Amino acid sequence: MTKNSGFPICLLEQPIENRAKYFHEFTVAHPLLVKSTKQVLDTIKNPEGYSIFMVIGPTGVGKTTLRKKVEKIVIQEMLSEMENDKSFIPIVGMEIVSPDSGKFSWIDYYKRALQELNEPMIDKKIDYDQLFLKSNFKSKYALTSKKTTAMELRKSLESAFHYRRTVTFLIDEAQHFTKMASGRRYQDQLDTIKSLSNMTNVIHVLIGTYELLPFVNLSGQLSRRTIDIHFPRYKADSNDDLYIFNSVLKTFESHMPLEKESNLIKYWDFIYERTIGCVGILKNWLERCLNEALHEGYKSIDFELLKKHSLSLSKAEKMAIEAIEGESTLEDNEEKKINLHKILGINSSNGEKTTNIDKCGKSVGKNKKKHNVGQRKPMRDEVGQLEKAK
Ligand SMILES: Nc1ncnc2c1ncn2[C@@H]1O[C@H](COP(=O)(O)OP(=O)(O)O)[C@@H](O)[C@H]1O
Ligand SMILES: [Mg+2]
Repeated sequence: MTKNSGFPICLLEQPIENRAKYFHEFTVAHPLLVKSTKQVLDTIKNPEGYSIFMVIGPTGVGKTTLRKKVEKIVIQEMLSEMENDKSFIPIVGMEIVSPDSGKFSWIDYYKRALQELNEPMIDKKIDYDQLFLKSNFKSKYALTSKKTTAMELRKSLESAFHYRRTVTFLIDEAQHFTKMASGRRYQDQLDTIKSLSNMTNVIHVLIGTYELLPFVNLSGQLSRRTIDIHFPRYKADSNDDLYIFNSVLKTFESHMPLEKESNLIKYWDFIYERTIGCVGILKNWLERCLNEALHEGYKSIDFELLKKHSLSLSKAEKMAIEAIEGESTLEDNEEKKINLHKILGINSSNGEKTTNIDKCGKSVGKNKKKHNVGQRKPMRDEVGQLEKAK
């Protein structure tokens, strides 16, 4: 019998479907998920003039999990208001599906967004006609007419946001925005989202993979009205990250309703290699192993089974390359700091030459050794003070 099981032992007596379902629904509130969720919640509650946010992270890090968590928390907080006013939808999430044609379609986008805003209303059986007759809302027409143009659909969406009093719109798989029809530029896509967000006063949160980076770069250049939240993987070059990732692995294992311990931690390096430190990839992998173990009647998961269901090396390598490239764009590092210092004319500690310009535009003080920003003059600190500051 499993010693450190986190699942109710009675599950072992239950049908395999129940056991699989238990693990499928099990969620770990690991630190990077908690941190990113808090960042998103703080940002949507205090947008401070920003209208678009981007949440970016590698495939399988848990972005959709984060989206659902945010939706749930906001809805719980607004529940009593929503019960009083059944048409009120404070937060809406949708997923952009990969376009059949390979190209992003605004018509498809608006239709899906409208569906997300309509469905809960149908479920709750509120006074649909009354509400939209009053407001001239033509969503039914918009959704069924074949000839509806993107502009008409957009107007319907603007009305829907207005009457739903929507505050936040979470757009998952937003990297598909970058797959445009020829002739359209990233700038056009971003402008359309921005104008919708400004017209409706609805905060748009774009959640996607590092393929969204062209948008991040563009919005950084053009406007301060976007903000980026990075939801990264656990990294192998950080002991803290590895420790947490391995704790997540142990937690998952303890919630897999099997008769015996598998002691997967023995294979942590192989597991890290094939997940690149993404918790969602790990969860999907363990689920595949569990399902086979349950169907075949295995008591635990051995290395063979683990290997059978792992991602291939080449797939893991592709994910790693994408993630590392994205991280280097989004995260601050020493190289970027040195570059910025160079641009600003701030000397680095190695005595590199710096040219300062006086108010007449002349170069002055060449080769003068300057002090680094943020670095105290060594002699000013007494030894005791430095120790205390640590
Ligand atoms: N913290 C977590 N605890 C349990 N399962 C998780 C967690 N994060 C992700 N998953 C699961 O892993 C899979 C992939 O996660 P997902 O959120 O879809 O990743 P992404 O959207 O970043 O690709 C999903 O089945 C999801 O339920
Ligand atoms: Mg997702």
